[in-house]
Formats: sequence, structure tokens, C-alpha cells
Amino acid sequence: MSSKRTSLILQDFIDSRIKTNDQVRILEVGCGTGEFAHLLKAHYQDKIDLTAIDPSESSVTAAKIKTPHINFHPQGVLDCPDATYDMIICTKSLHHCGDLQKTVQRVYDLLAKGGILLAEELQPDRLDSASIIWLFDRVDLLTAAKQLNAEGLRPPHSTLADPTIPAEQRWNAFLQKRSCHPSSAVKAAVKAVFGANTEIRENTAFMHYYLPKFRLQDTEVGRSILKEFMKQEARALGNNTIVSLGFSIVASKSI
Ligand SMILES: C[S@@+](CC[C@H](N)C(=O)[O-])C[C@H]1O[C@@H](n2cnc3c(N)ncnc32)[C@H](O)[C@@H]1O
Repeated sequence: MSSKRTSLILQDFIDSRIKTNDQVRILEVGCGTGEFAHLLKAHYQDKIDLTAIDPSESSVTAAKIKTPHINFHPQGVLDCPDATYDMIICTKSLHHCGDLQKTVQRVYDLLAKGGILLAEELQPDRLDSASIIWLFDRVDLLTAAKQLNAEGLRPPHSTLADPTIPAEQRWNAFLQKRSCHPSSAVKAAVKAVFGANTEIRENTAFMHYYLPKFRLQDTEVGRSILKEFMKQEARALGNNTIVSLGFSIVASKSI
């Protein structure tokens, strides 16, 4: 699920529109296997009209099996047919979209006047060495305690989870293999299209995102580890011990 902060922005927007609209029209761009769409629909049910797209056919097929009553389509945002949405949500997907400028322009064109883009993004390229060490001290401790398991992971995550490699070396190798847009390009593309109606919210805790990737078990123990990790991450962000791995963008289309 998205970070708490982003969920609140989303909830505020949807709740305020539900008061005036019959249904809030939402497009999720880059929905992957549909987990977030599933949670959104389960929460709002008929109060939202939800369409979710992703160019990965296999992800969309998996999403449709899990939640057949959501409009999932195997398409990229540039192939998305003309329609009007009150809200467009991108969860960790904007930095993957090929032509960023065209993508953001398409998002803008698909929004109703007064509609908003909510993007939840990662900025691994901004972590400093104190933040990298903070993360891997915890990851390596959990690996030693057999709560995380790198076996069977594929690169770049197998390298990231390997405690025999110094933390910064792992992180740099991961960044080099990353074939997506840097966070600065994502922010610039949104600002270029939405102008002054763009708000970038830094300080989004997101390091906990890696624990399930390193196979933290979905058990009572796994869940309490995740909860404690999230508490520590929020505290470290609050006292500036670490740089935020996440950021969110809230951009609105002028009325
Ligand atoms: C890191 S995954 C995030 C998936 C999901 N939103 C989540 O939070 O788990 C990025 C997703 O963006 C999708 N994507 C890549 N290019 C895209 C495009 N041009 N339009 C829409 N989605 C795209 C990928 O197929 C992938 O599923």
C-alpha cells in the first residue's frame, strides 16, 4: 500500500469530491499486478469509477484474476484512450514511463479541470552515505537473524541484499543498473507541465519498501518487524539522520 502520508492526501481528495460528484473518476497509471487498485476499490466501492492501466500484459492478467470487477487495461499511458478523470494516481511508476514529458502531458490532458495528479515516487539517487548505512545496518541484521532471505533473488535486488558487499558499493551498483528516470527529471517534467500548481512533498518514508522485496515473511513476526522498522524510519527522518527515499507529487490542473 502507499505510504500513510500519500494515503491521507488521496483520502482527503476523494472524500471532498464524493460530496459533490456521484462518482470520482480515477485512473491508476502503472498499476502492476493491481494491489493498490484492489485496496482502493475495496475501500471506496461504488463511490469511485476506477480504471487501472499497465503496459505489462502479464501483470494486468494477474490483476484481472484477483479483482475482475476493476477496469484493468494492458496499455501504457500514451495509449490510454481519451477520457476525463478527476484524479490520476501513479504509484512508483512515473520514473518508469519512457517519454516523461509526453507522459506528464498526457496525464494533464486526461484530467478534468480542477483534477489532480498524485504521484508517489522513489529517489534512491538522493540517498547519502549515512542513509545508506542506516538502511543496510538493519537489512544485514535482519538477514543474520534469518528474517530476510536473499536466496533466489535476481539482480539488482540480489546484490542489494548481499551482506558480504559494503553497503555503499551495493547501493551504487544498484543505481548503475537502474534503467529509469532520475528523480530530478520526474520533478522537472511535472513542474514543466503543471507549473505553479505542482507541490513536491519530500520526507516520505520509503525504506521499509525494501523489506518485503528482501522476502520479509508475511507472518506475525514479519509484520511486527515492519512496524518497528517504519517507526524507526519515521524517527530518523524526523531528526534528519537520514534523507527520505520517497517523495510525493501533488499537482492540480487549473480550473
Ligand atoms: C515499480 S512498478 C510499480 C507497480 C505498482 N504501481 C506498485 O506500486 O507495486 C512500475 C510499473 O510501471 C509500469 N509502466 C512502465 N511504463 C509505463 C507506461 N508508459 N505507462 C504506464 N505504466 C508503465 C511498469 O509496467 C510497472 O508495472
